[in-house]
Amino acid sequence: MAFEIPLLSDDTLLLRQHTAADLDAVYTRCVDPVSVQWTTIPLDYTPDMAQEYLETVSAPQDNAVSWALDVAGSYAGTIDLRFEGAASGSLGFVTSPEYRGRGLMSRAVRLAVVHAFEDLDWDVVTWKANAGNTGSYKTVWRCGFPQPTAVPYLLNHRGTMVEGWISSLGRNEAREPSGSWADAVQALPSVPANAG
Ligand SMILES: CC(C)(COP(=O)(O)OP(=O)(O)OC[C@H]1O[C@@H](n2cnc3c(N)ncnc32)[C@H](O)[C@@H]1OP(=O)(O)O)[C@@H](O)C(=O)NCCC(=O)NCCS
Repeated sequence: MAFEIPLLSDDTLLLRQHTAADLDAVYTRCVDPVSVQWTTIPLDYTPDMAQEYLETVSAPQDNAVSWALDVAGSYAGTIDLRFEGAASGSLGFVTSPEYRGRGLMSRAVRLAVVHAFEDLDWDVVTWKANAGNTGSYKTVWRCGFPQPTAVPYLLNHRGTMVEGWISSLGRNEAREPSGSWADAVQALPSVPANAG
């Protein structure tokens, strides 16, 4: 079954289908060093790869739905829901460098999670990140994702299995943090010396 790409919005942010006009901005965020550090974007990324990627994500996909974050008509990042069977799936996201720190991905996570539970009828949404990606955790913490568990060798990071953090939110769980961010940071797993 292919997943449609509905328009989702709140009062600041629009999630929409990617278009060919996003090419330059997608390429720029794919070669950004912070994106390279925390995601599995290929190291030799080219504009042709960005174009191929856009052709894939701008049409309905069999196992995922991908939205462009759109702020006043400009591309500001990408968020994916990846179907993993049994009414469940996982989140993946990157904000374009110049749009970080404005609360955009926290808003995008909330919109995507509401879509997963209320439109797709999923039971659970999971977030995974390389151990130490505190900024990524903050975006899902704002939507109620509980303290992550650290799992050694969880993620394939360009051919090496690395420690990951994982946290899941069930459809009937509160979509708000249960405490302060300061407490959440204190409770984060310690990070291996070679992480990140
Ligand atoms: C993680 C990422 C998506 C967050 O996007 P964003 O649009 O800046 O997210 P938000 O503004 O909604 O929230 C991020 C919060 O984390 C905070 N933050 C960012 N990096 C942090 C860090 N290393 N430690 C602690 N907090 C951090 C920000 O200050 C912000 O908090 P604030 O709103 O209270 O100021 C973005 O930094 C990014 O694209 N990183 C590279 C790719 C990546 O890591 N993707 C996730 C892979 S699992």
